[in-house]
Amino acid sequence: MRAQFRGVLTLALMVAVCALLYVLLYGQISDHSVSYFQKLQLVPRGGRLHEMNCPCKNTTRDVFTAGSGSAHKETPMLWLQKKDFKQYPIWASEDVYVRDKQKRQMTCPQSLRNSQNTGFKQAFIPDIQMYLHGELLNQSEWNRLAYFNNPFGFMDYTNYTEIKAVVDLIPKPREPLLLPRGNPGCICCAVVATGGILNGSRMGKEIDAHDYVFRMNGAITKGYEEDVGNRTSVYVHTAHSITQSLFIFKKYGYDSAPHDKGIKYVLIPEGLRDFQWLKGLLGRTTVSDGPYKNRRPWMQYSGEFDENRFYVLHPDFLRYTRNRFMRSEALKGSYWAICRPTNGAFTLFLALHTCDVVDAYGFITEDHSKYPNYYAERHSKTRVIFYANHDYNLEIKTWKKLHDTEIIRLYQRQESPERKTGKPTEP
Ligand SMILES: *[C@@H]1O[C@H](CO)[C@@H](O)[C@H](O)[C@H]1NC(C)=O
Ligand SMILES: *[C@@H]1O[C@H](CO)[C@@H](O)[C@H](O)[C@H]1NC(C)=O
Ligand SMILES: *[C@@H]1O[C@H](CO)[C@@H](O)[C@H](O)[C@H]1NC(C)=O
Ligand SMILES: *[C@@H]1O[C@H](CO)[C@@H](O)[C@H](O)[C@H]1NC(C)=O
Repeated sequence: MRAQFRGVLTLALMVAVCALLYVLLYGQISDHSVSYFQKLQLVPRGGRLHEMNCPCKNTTRDVFTAGSGSAHKETPMLWLQKKDFKQYPIWASEDVYVRDKQKRQMTCPQSLRNSQNTGFKQAFIPDIQMYLHGELLNQSEWNRLAYFNNPFGFMDYTNYTEIKAVVDLIPKPREPLLLPRGNPGCICCAVVATGGILNGSRMGKEIDAHDYVFRMNGAITKGYEEDVGNRTSVYVHTAHSITQSLFIFKKYGYDSAPHDKGIKYVLIPEGLRDFQWLKGLLGRTTVSDGPYKNRRPWMQYSGEFDENRFYVLHPDFLRYTRNRFMRSEALKGSYWAICRPTNGAFTLFLALHTCDVVDAYGFITEDHSKYPNYYAERHSKTRVIFYANHDYNLEIKTWKKLHDTEIIRLYQRQESPERKTGKPTEP
């Protein structure tokens, strides 16, 4: 009788603790996860999905803390698949991210990190973990990240052992992506996208005058120096973009990815094919599976590939960027699983988290239809195609807002009329 009573009491206590946890954590989500533009909204879910989301159910109880691995179940969890969800599922752990233990020293008074803009201050996590490497993946982290589709996590990936073996090849960065140059320790960056707004802009000199120049995708400079500059310090890519750009931009004279001496390469692990690419790249073997089968990835970097200058973005950093700065309404639609920010967007946010001053060039603006799609298209003007996987209207708004709140300086052909201060962008 007594034992039975004790059993009931323990059970009641557990339920109460669970309920408390639930309330506290949900409270946290709705109070603090204010995205820069929109609040995170918990979408209603039905049946099975709802059950999986309940924090009191076995698998999800400990999902809340990134990196607090020991609390997680060490066994493989239920396998979530994209096809089971009609729209983007939002979990209680959605807005929880691993933090970087090595804090960066703040030496620049003009740093964007000192922005007083409330929305930005609330959204920005200065010590977000930017890079993925071997030490950061274990079974419990895998379980936590299995709730999010690629590139934001590992949903749909079936084989932990396989991915873990690849991630173990990624070295832990020995030094930060960028080091301060000059005085007083400010890092000034230009981020150059491929947009046609740069055609005829004569921004080359200004771009090259920055401490660091970031580029992505078909970053052709030869023949376009006057408009886009000639230096590349950081090149951001996916396995798809580094291989496809060679075809798309071939007609403009693009014959290799940027390979300035000492260049840093950053990979966005967009899908399974990027892990297959990484396995070949870091293991110096031909790719054994997937679309790049039999390729030798390191050959794509013109002799400049070096593990010590190679970085892979962490899925948490990508999810954080999406959640807090550019959450698309398209996540509520049937294309949710392919909807993600562009490589240019991730590159800009990489710069926002590694530089003090960020100037963005060649990013999409409201008047994009006046310009060709790419700056490399001097003679024939093709329109920007709005593919379903990217929300270009959201990107237009986001860049404009970051510019208007003086967090970045966005190159525009005409300054927005409401902005009174700041340098004119046309000579
Ligand atoms: C798993 O990795 C996380 C993140 O690095 C770490 O905090 C945690 O302690 C690890 N868990 C185990 C069981 O090793
Ligand atoms: C997972 O991958 C490993 C290593 O590639 C392989 O040995 C193993 O058979 C795979 N497991 C399954 C279930 O496919
Ligand atoms: C690119 O800029 C040049 C110089 O301003 C201009 O003559 C040309 O028409 C532009 N090309 C396109 C496709 O807009
Ligand atoms: C870029 O151009 C400048 C000046 O024209 C030149 O000194 C420099 O060597 C060039 N840099 C690269 C990486 O081509």
